[in-house]
Amino acid sequence: MRTHYCGELNNKHIGDTVTVCGWVHRRRDHGGVIFLDLRDRQGLLQVVVDPDTEQAFATADRARSEWVMQVTGLVRTRPDGTVNADMPTGEIEVLGREVNVLNTADTPPFQLDEHAKVGEEVRLKHRYMDLRRPEMLENLILRSRVTTFVRNFLTDHGFVDTETPILTRATPEGARDYLVPSRVHKGEFFALPQSPQLFKQLLMVAGLDRYFQIAKCFRDEDLRADRQPEFTQIDLEMSFADEEAVMNLTEAMIRDLFKVEMDIDLGEFPRIPYAEVMARFGSDKPDLRIPLELIDIKDLMASVDFKVFSGPANDPDGRVTVMKVPSGATISRKEIDDYTKFVSQYGAKGLAWVKVNAMAEGIEGLQSPILKFIPDDVVMRLISRVDANDGDILFFGADSARVVSDALGSLRVKVGHDLNLLTHEWAPLWVVDFPMFEETGEGQIVALHHPFTAPTVDPGALKADPLDALSRAYDMVLNGTELGGGSIRIHDQVTQHAVFEVLNISADEQREKFGFLLDALCYGAPPHGGLAFGLDRLVMLMLGATSIRDVIAFPKTQSATCLLTDAPGEVSAEQLKEAGVRIRQDKTGLI
Ligand code: AMO
Ligand code: AMP
Repeated sequence: MRTHYCGELNNKHIGDTVTVCGWVHRRRDHGGVIFLDLRDRQGLLQVVVDPDTEQAFATADRARSEWVMQVTGLVRTRPDGTVNADMPTGEIEVLGREVNVLNTADTPPFQLDEHAKVGEEVRLKHRYMDLRRPEMLENLILRSRVTTFVRNFLTDHGFVDTETPILTRATPEGARDYLVPSRVHKGEFFALPQSPQLFKQLLMVAGLDRYFQIAKCFRDEDLRADRQPEFTQIDLEMSFADEEAVMNLTEAMIRDLFKVEMDIDLGEFPRIPYAEVMARFGSDKPDLRIPLELIDIKDLMASVDFKVFSGPANDPDGRVTVMKVPSGATISRKEIDDYTKFVSQYGAKGLAWVKVNAMAEGIEGLQSPILKFIPDDVVMRLISRVDANDGDILFFGADSARVVSDALGSLRVKVGHDLNLLTHEWAPLWVVDFPMFEETGEGQIVALHHPFTAPTVDPGALKADPLDALSRAYDMVLNGTELGGGSIRIHDQVTQHAVFEVLNISADEQREKFGFLLDALCYGAPPHGGLAFGLDRLVMLMLGATSIRDVIAFPKTQSATCLLTDAPGEVSAEQLKEAGVRIRQDKTGLI
């Protein structure tokens, strides 16, 4: 139907007769001459139709926004003064001789140029229209280039692309499962995979040696800008590999990808232990573009009268820390109030601060609501520890270590962006030496990664002191986003039992849920390890997008629905019966 894409024509085609197809982006009537800006995947093209070509003119005159057209005509230079240097096709136009309407269109729910004026709901409901926007199509095209690059890279390195089941048993990755009722086995359910974790380990036991998959994963969890209930991993696993092997290979892949696709040199990724990133940045996915750090002052505050500080300073689980913002004394009272509200979302009960107005004047040169509660000598030791200068502001956090790290870690990122402090564009790193377990607020022990991650200690030491044990896990972080995570796995049954025991999973439950894995570990499981990247997050970062919804063709909303298809939806009584499912209802509605 066409000889060229609209967006591919340029001055090399001048004098050629071409046929193009596309959507009417804009139609303009310039006193007897009609201009159609035709749009296809490759870009925009200006078509001019003269009244001399009567039939073509009449058709072009009828055309409206988003109609689908076919135009045959001559490529010619644009008249002087009408060249558009911003457009790849801006030097030429097509003089349309034959114009056909391939399809008409109703008035669009929003003008593509004006998408920002409508809510995201409208865009998601008419996603096929939203995706017509060139920037959205470019996002999908980059995504395809990334998966092609990854497939080639991993295939070249001996990885075998292998599919694993979608209808399966639960794989614990910390979220709720999506369940699918079995018609054949009434009362029983499949779980959609939260990741292919156990299958990829079984493929190592099978001797596949190197596995990868661009894998769909399903997690029923609270959604955020960088989380979807259904998302895609670049998932891989290697046998006879240690941390170095997995990290070196995956780092090389990401570095090559950025070089080839974006001409960006990410350099070598620093490796920083978990304890250090938590201490310095209050986060296990620190944004290293921001030159702000937390400095602990627990020792200084242990014997002050100010209970807000001395309480956590004397609590083994407490933390008292300060963040210095150079030249931050210009931050207004109103802004400090806003920051106080911001940290309260993370559980902080306040946000004490000190402005350093004039160091030369000692205590007198400081301004703060808390100075009256703290002895002068402690204040001066504090000032010297953080190496404060005139014009700086100090923000304080005092609470449980978890609340302080969350609150000040998040404040660090917010202030960094608000004050434009970012020092460079790309900051990758590895976080290593994670603890095996952490304690939840309710005193329950949970795996920091998943329970198949190998510890650095033997099973005896692990059981004796689980909260002290480190794991052989590693996360790749880019610009404050966790891009991927992985580990060396447990490949013997004794260690796997020990981990389940620490997690308080009874022997019966171990057998019931993971019997197949425990059995496989007894039939010659090789040492192995791997990693999974979040593909959506990777593409989002490469594009500088702020939501992964912008890089997924048909994403779900924040409340895990699809506005386009209206899923999830009710099913017929017949289907429910077949699936052996009854919906429980009380007077107030569904339960
Ligand atoms: P993990 O749970 O860390 O590890 O997931 C790996 C990566 O997947 C991405 N990711 C998500 N992306 C979008 N929406 C979500 N809801 C979501 N959840 C996770 C993140 C994350 O770094 N089986 C292990 C990997 C392994 O050990 O090899 C796993 O799934 O970018
Ligand atoms: P208060 O004595 O509660 O009025 O608090 C005095 C100052 O300490 C105020 O600036 C509060 O914002 C701040 N503050 C209170 N609780 C905390 C906390 N847990 N961490 C940091 N600052 C706090």
